[in-house]
Amino acid sequence: MKYTLITGASTGIGKATAEEFARQGHDLIVVARRIEKLKELSEKIWEKYHREVICIQCDLSNQKQVYDLYDKCKDYDIDIWINNAGAGLQQKISEHDIERAMNVIALNIEATTILSSLYARDNKDKPYTLINISSLAGYRIAKRLPVYSATKMYISAITEALYYEMGEENLPLRVKVFAAGSTATDFEMVANGKVPDPDTFKGNSSEEVASFIYQAYLNDKCVAYVGYDFDLYFTDPCIPHSLNKSIHPSMLER
Ligand SMILES: NC(=O)c1ccc[n+]([C@@H]2O[C@H](COP(=O)([O-])OP(=O)(O)OC[C@H]3O[C@@H](n4cnc5c(N)ncnc54)[C@H](OP(=O)(O)O)[C@@H]3O)[C@@H](O)[C@H]2O)c1
Repeated sequence: MKYTLITGASTGIGKATAEEFARQGHDLIVVARRIEKLKELSEKIWEKYHREVICIQCDLSNQKQVYDLYDKCKDYDIDIWINNAGAGLQQKISEHDIERAMNVIALNIEATTILSSLYARDNKDKPYTLINISSLAGYRIAKRLPVYSATKMYISAITEALYYEMGEENLPLRVKVFAAGSTATDFEMVANGKVPDPDTFKGNSSEEVASFIYQAYLNDKCVAYVGYDFDLYFTDPCIPHSLNKSIHPSMLER
């Protein structure tokens, strides 16, 4: 039996993505710290779609727990692995709460690196799929979110680099980066402690983004991103690489 694993599935984009993949017929492993929320999601998915959902509690900012998570997953055949868990930090670099910034780096960079590396090591010979969730802020620095942007640039870069690595050796593992735009989730509240005003919010719903992520899974391009018109686009890797020095013009803000 095959499973789709999604980190950060207790709320927001990850939760909606879990529902979308279940709707499309996938059994799931969902990961987050809030196990009660994962269990509620599991019950809902079973009632609606009759898909199995295995819930794993894990604090991905703790490296030991990240390795333990991967060990627990070894008993399952995971053909789609989605590193979605992430957090923002809306602070000037010169005014950082450094402990919080290090926590964001541990979650966004360290956990994604460990899980991507282990998944690629163990599955590079299979036609499986790794999707790392980045951001438009992972292709240009967002003024209000500098450290967050830098962590997402890192995710975009290692994911594109892994895509090239698979291609150069003709390995079948599919590697994708999904760059979300502004999406109505708890993200902003976590990043700056403020709840966005729903009357002025401009962006996608988490359900729209979940359906984009499913389309990204089906599509053969390496990069899927949400444009400034809140629509979905696909492109080849965009970051200058020794194998590809061009930046795709559609990534640039109009
Ligand atoms: N919303 C946006 O505008 C936007 C735009 C571009 C990209 N993104 C990216 O989309 C992804 C999902 O974000 P979202 O908008 O859905 O935010 P969200 O609603 O705050 O969800 C974040 C998810 O990550 C999990 N998480 C956070 N810290 C964790 C930790 N230490 N260990 C394990 N899980 C943890 C949370 O679960 P627990 O708290 O239960 O652990 C939650 O399920 C992130 O990578 C984010 O950077 C979001």
